[in-house]
Amino acid sequence: MGLKGKTALVTGSTKGIGKAIAIELAREGVHVLINGRSREAVEITVMEIQAEFPDTRPQNAAADLVDNQQREALLAKFPQVDLLINSMGIYEIRAYDDLSDDIWEHYIRTNVLAANRLTQFYLPSMLSNNDGRILFIASEEAVMPSGQMPHYAVTKSMLLSLAKSLSKLTKGSEVTVNTIMPGPTLSENVQQIIDGIYSQTDMTFKDKEKDFMSKNLPQSEIQRFIRPLEIGRLAAFLCSPYASAFKGSPIRMDGGMVPTIY
Ligand SMILES: NC(=O)c1ccc[n+]([C@@H]2O[C@H](COP(=O)([O-])OP(=O)(O)OC[C@H]3O[C@@H](n4cnc5c(N)ncnc54)[C@H](OP(=O)(O)O)[C@@H]3O)[C@@H](O)[C@H]2O)c1
Repeated sequence: MGLKGKTALVTGSTKGIGKAIAIELAREGVHVLINGRSREAVEITVMEIQAEFPDTRPQNAAADLVDNQQREALLAKFPQVDLLINSMGIYEIRAYDDLSDDIWEHYIRTNVLAANRLTQFYLPSMLSNNDGRILFIASEEAVMPSGQMPHYAVTKSMLLSLAKSLSKLTKGSEVTVNTIMPGPTLSENVQQIIDGIYSQTDMTFKDKEKDFMSKNLPQSEIQRFIRPLEIGRLAAFLCSPYASAFKGSPIRMDGGMVPTIY
């Protein structure tokens, strides 16, 4: 895809969607910087990617991105990237009444401000190189809040707005800022939740998935979870030179969850 030799920081890339994006970029010959709070999990992921894609140089970029000191130290260590994938994000179903200001603030700091700070740091050099990609990972909750996690949905809507504002700054350049909105995706966490719900049965995973989807996510048109690999391939394409006309776009890969045309 014309990405060989580029460097990418993929936040939250020891698991789930972030890890799949890192793997798919490495498959394209990108040197990936792996991030997560657990230094051990980051190191394991770096070794896995190094073994699978020996022509690339994955590196350990462990840091808690919500911690100002750790985040600034990471930026000082890696002052230049070609691709920034803001995948790190937290989510949890919670009753609206339980959402204290501290929880709201934590979600905004984690899901929005951390990604914003990284973007603020890397965007200027991308613009002066006239080359670069910034991707935010939002969610279908950004445009179709389910009501089960308002604190999360708000942060994901904010990312769509931020990406469009920043895209304005890229006018006339080859730099792009876009957002992917995944629907329900089979990360390790989601897999554990499903296995937990059906722990008393001897159903195959495929049957559990089918049952769960029909009872809990009937609006999904694929009636299965999206695989992280699918998001990873899409992200690799959006990082490629073939995707330079996507500017400030919210790109849905939601399995048909959103029932509207736009
Ligand atoms: N899974 C879904 O169904 C789904 C659907 C739509 C959108 N999304 C979005 O896609 C993104 C990834 O979701 P996922 O389910 O794949 O996530 P996940 O499996 O929970 O993985 C989260 C990753 O982020 C890291 N992380 C968490 N807090 C961090 C912090 N403060 N600093 C640095 N790293 C941190 C985790 O590692 P450590 O714990 O070691 O820090 C891990 O690598 C999120 O933005 C999520 O909102 C997910």
